[in-house]
Amino acid sequence: VKYQSHSVEETESVATDLARTLRGGECIALDGELGAGKTHFVRGLVTALGGLPRAVSSPTFMLLNVYHTRTFTVYHLDAYRVGGADDFDAIGFTELLEQNGIVVVEWAARVKELLPSRRIEITLTQTGEQDREIEISVVGG
Ligand SMILES: Nc1ncnc2c1ncn2[C@@H]1O[C@H](COP(=O)(O)OP(=O)(O)OP(=O)(O)O)[C@@H](O)[C@H]1O
Ligand SMILES: [Mg+2]
Repeated sequence: VKYQSHSVEETESVATDLARTLRGGECIALDGELGAGKTHFVRGLVTALGGLPRAVSSPTFMLLNVYHTRTFTVYHLDAYRVGGADDFDAIGFTELLEQNGIVVVEWAARVKELLPSRRIEITLTQTGEQDREIEISVVGG
């Protein structure tokens, strides 16, 4: 499904719609250029799940942020600076996938080989200063 967003708020509301469909155990793979809105999308998701939006930041230097929301624990990773799959293994990525929380990965294409075959793929594309195309697809069985 493709959405057109014209503001940060609209991007967050697309994330809210997605949040309503989550059951726990999902892996969300986010891709898009620098500044495409991946972190804002995660903020919308965490807010919709009852977590604190201000806690959400790009985990670029932390590699992993954990948010406790009313419903699920959200594990927020960023593969931008990872050297390779080994770094993700080191933080226990595979175990995170088994916690029945929500695992969200920015720059997911960089660790594609580690992603579960069933996942929600989201690609954000900047189409104007404030405009973003957000494509969401569920892949795998
Ligand atoms: N429609 C929109 N949706 C999301 N962000 C928008 C939109 N319009 C403008 N922006 C701006 O674009 C930037 C998106 O930043 P954000 O940190 O979410 O990007 P990112 O994809 O996580 O980047 P990075 O790869 O550096 O982590 C913010 O400065 C935000 O204000
Ligand atoms: Mg980010």
